[in-house]
Amino acid sequence: MKQLLTLFILLLSLASFANEPLLQNTYSREGISLNGRWNYIVDVYESGYYNYRREPHDQTENPGSGAFFLNKKAKSKQERVEYDFDYAPTMVVPGDWNSQKENLFYYEGTLWYKKSFDIPDFDPTQRYYLHFGAVNYVADVYVNGQKLGTHKGGFTPFNFEMTDVVQSKDNFVIVKVDNKRSADEVPTLSTDWWNYGGITRNVTIYALSETFIEDYSLQLDKENDGLISGYVRLNGNHKGELEVTIRIPELNIKEKVKTNKEGFVKVDFPVKNLQKWSDQSPILYDVILSTENDKVEDRIGFRQIKTQGADILLNGEKVFLKGIAIHEENVMRGGRAYSMEDAKILLGWAKELGCNFVRLAHYPHNENMARLADEMGLLVWEEIPVYWTIEWTNETTYQKAEKQLTEVITRDKNRASVIIWSMANETPQSEERLTFLTRLAKSTRQLDNTRLITAALEDHGKKEDPNIMVVEDKFADVVDILSFNQYYGWYGGTVENIKNIRWEIDKNKPVIISEFGAGALQGYHADENTIWSEEHQDLLYRETLPTLAKIPQLSGISPWILVDFRSPRRMHDVYQNGWNRKGLISETGNRKKAFYTLQNFYKKVVDTL
Ligand code: GCU
Repeated sequence: MKQLLTLFILLLSLASFANEPLLQNTYSREGISLNGRWNYIVDVYESGYYNYRREPHDQTENPGSGAFFLNKKAKSKQERVEYDFDYAPTMVVPGDWNSQKENLFYYEGTLWYKKSFDIPDFDPTQRYYLHFGAVNYVADVYVNGQKLGTHKGGFTPFNFEMTDVVQSKDNFVIVKVDNKRSADEVPTLSTDWWNYGGITRNVTIYALSETFIEDYSLQLDKENDGLISGYVRLNGNHKGELEVTIRIPELNIKEKVKTNKEGFVKVDFPVKNLQKWSDQSPILYDVILSTENDKVEDRIGFRQIKTQGADILLNGEKVFLKGIAIHEENVMRGGRAYSMEDAKILLGWAKELGCNFVRLAHYPHNENMARLADEMGLLVWEEIPVYWTIEWTNETTYQKAEKQLTEVITRDKNRASVIIWSMANETPQSEERLTFLTRLAKSTRQLDNTRLITAALEDHGKKEDPNIMVVEDKFADVVDILSFNQYYGWYGGTVENIKNIRWEIDKNKPVIISEFGAGALQGYHADENTIWSEEHQDLLYRETLPTLAKIPQLSGISPWILVDFRSPRRMHDVYQNGWNRKGLISETGNRKKAFYTLQNFYKKVVDTL
C-alpha cells in the first residue's frame, strides 16, 4: 500500500513538471507584485528537500519537520524545528544571489526563498496564477505548503495556477532554487558566462476571470500587406463557443470572432492604411483583445521579414544588420539585468553605437529588452543556451531545449523587433548534433513560421590555403541565415594577416558574422601590437571590418560584445580579474577606442555595402 501511495505521489509530482500553459502578455496585465525582500536559507546539503534517507519530503506520506516547504513553526517549547524563515536573512527579488551576497558570489547549489503575502480584494470566483519572469535554474514552487510545480530552465517565464490553495490573508510562497550546472542540462556544464543563481526576474500574482485570454498571436501576413493573421486561445471551463473582439482603434479595426468549443479561434482580417514597423519607423499599434469577462491590451508592430537570395528583406526592402552582441548584465549594479531601466542602459548604448540590430546572447533575455527594442526600432536575434557541448543523444536534454525555445517564442511572438530565432552557438559537429538542431529548427518553424532561423556556426582556414576561410557545416543547409563566429587575429591567426584573409561561402544565403572581437582592459594603453591594450583591440576592429565587408553575402554583423561581462574562465589577474574583456565598454561604463571605430564604421561605411 505504502509503495502504491509513494508511486501516486511521485506521478503527481512528475505531472507538475508539465508546466501549465504560459500566460500571454502578463507584461500588460495588472498584477500583484511579490518583488521586494524575501527571506532565504542556503541549503548546501538540500536537507530542506530530502529526508535523511534522501527521499524528497514533498513525495513522502508524512514530510519530516525538516521539510522547508511547510514553513513549520515550533508550537511548544518541546517541539524541535531546525529552521525558521522568519528569522532568516533577506535578499531582493528580482536579483541573482551572487551579486547581492559576497558569501554567495561563487555559490552553485540550492537556496530557498520565502515570501508572505495577502491578496487584496480577494475574489473566490477568480482564478489566481503565480508568474515568474525567470528563475535560474530549477525552481520548485510551493504555496501554503502545497507544491504547485517545478520548472527547469534559467531564462524563460513560467506560471502555476494556485486558485485552490490561496486565501485572502496569511499566504506564503516558498521557492527552492537550484543553479547547479549539469552535463545534461541546457546550458551544459561549460559556458563562458557567470552562472548567476536565483529568482532573477519579476514574481507576480494575476487574478483572472473564470475564462480568460490565455494566448494570442497577431502578425501581418508574410506575403499579403492587407491581411493580419493569427489566433486567440481562451482558458476556462466555458461551455460552447465564445465571442472575442479584437480592436485596433488607429486602423478602425473591430473584429468579432467566435471560438470553437475548446476556446480556440484562428483569425484573419483585412487591414488598410497600415504603417509597417521598421527599425527606421518603429510604429506600434494599440491592440485590445476582449471577451465578456476579460480584456488584455498590447502594443504590436506589424512588419514582414524574409530572405531573398543573400539579402534580408524588411518589408520588402534590403536591410543591413548593424549589430552588437549583448549579455544580460547590468555591470554597474552587478549581476543579472532584469528591469526596463537596465534595458534602457544596454539598448541606449547600442543605439549610441549606431546599431539597428542586437544579438541577445546566449539565452533569452528579460522581456523588457524585446519590448524596448519594439519602441526604439532595434531588430533582435534571440537564442536559447544550446551552447558548446550539449548532450546531443539525450532525449530529455532535447526536450529541455525545445521547451525553452517554446517558452521564449510564446512570450515574444508578438514582438515586431524579434526577427531571428537562433538554435545554437558554436556546437561541435556530429550527426547527432545535426539531428538535434534540425529537429529544433523544425519545431521552431511549426511554432512560428514568420521569423528567420539561424545558429552561430564556426569557420576555419582551408588546409591548402589558411588564408581562405570556409564554413563547412551541414546545418548551414537548414538555416535561413548563415551565421558564424570568427576570431581570426585573436583565437589563431595574426592581426597583421587579417587583411590577407577572405571567406569562401558557397551558400546563396544572407551571412551574419555573429561574433568577432578581442579583449582589452579599458584604460590600458600601449602600442597596437601589445595584447590587452585598447590600441590592440582597436587595431583588430580596424583590420577586421573592411575584410568582412568583402563578403558578398554579408547582411549583418554583431561584434562580440557591447560590455565586459563576468566569466569564471577569464582569470588573468592583471587584464581580466574574472571578466571577459571583449566589451567595447568596460564594467564601469567607460568606452574603449574600438567603440568609436565601430561607431564610425556604422556611420560611414555600411551604407555603401
Ligand atoms: C565564443 C563564444 C562566446 C565567448 C567568446 C569569447 O565565440 O560564443 O560565448 O564569450 O567566444 O571567447 O570571448
